[in-house]
Amino acid sequence: MGYKVVVAGATGNVGREMLNILAERQFPVDELAVLASRRSLGTEVTFGDKTLKTQDIEQFDWTGWDMALFAIGSEATKVHGPKAAKAGCVVIDNSSLYRYDPEVPLIVPEVNPQAVHDYSKKNIIANPNCSTAQMVVALKPLHDRATIKRVIVSTYQSVSGAGKDGMDELWDQTKAIYNPTSDVPPSKFTKQIAFNVIPHIDVFMEDGST
Ligand SMILES: NC(=O)c1ccc[n+]([C@@H]2O[C@H](COP(=O)([O-])OP(=O)(O)OC[C@H]3O[C@@H](n4cnc5c(N)ncnc54)[C@H](OP(=O)(O)O)[C@@H]3O)[C@@H](O)[C@H]2O)c1
Repeated sequence: MGYKVVVAGATGNVGREMLNILAERQFPVDELAVLASRRSLGTEVTFGDKTLKTQDIEQFDWTGWDMALFAIGSEATKVHGPKAAKAGCVVIDNSSLYRYDPEVPLIVPEVNPQAVHDYSKKNIIANPNCSTAQMVVALKPLHDRATIKRVIVSTYQSVSGAGKDGMDELWDQTKAIYNPTSDVPPSKFTKQIAFNVIPHIDVFMEDGST
């Protein structure tokens, strides 16, 4: 007996990787639905040796699905996450939307798997940003031996963290630098990203950090 699994954001970088890992780890999937925005209706994605057609998340009926891996960003998750959860489909969300919600467990399986039981409060599980997830795996044994009170971190985030639009911008600007026939002005980033490091990710907070 396997699970009925949904991957929301299946056309994106994260969604495609989720599909690869589900196949690679032979996760017990009985049925799989792949969703994205209406823009991608019918787009084909691969799951192991199968090819699946992407469905429009707006039209999707969540009833009867066991779990959904969400990688569609906070804005779209705000709309579709609660619909899925309400229909009984457990949402495992990759966005930042629920990370500070006291009724949603924030899980890194190697660190706090016991907290997962709280998922039933909202039928939603959150996970942290990638830099946090890998860091806390390393910090957990240290924390167990000697309580960690504070961690100061500088992260160097890859362009891929900005999704496929960000990666396309890097690629197009890099090509334009080597073959200067066209100008590729910044769009996804605030400054030219090719051959550059920008101290800016997401929004600026009141204390000036970003
Ligand atoms: N936890 C982590 O460590 C981590 C790391 C990276 C990313 N993320 C999260 O994962 C999300 C996806 O990242 P990515 O790199 O895969 O981005 P991406 O390559 O730009 O892909 C975005 C995906 O979301 C879909 N989407 C966008 N708006 C939508 C909407 N309104 N309704 C339905 N689907 C929509 C896109 O579908 P279309 O192709 O139809 O536009 C696409 O499948 C990010 O926004 C972030 O929240 C989390």
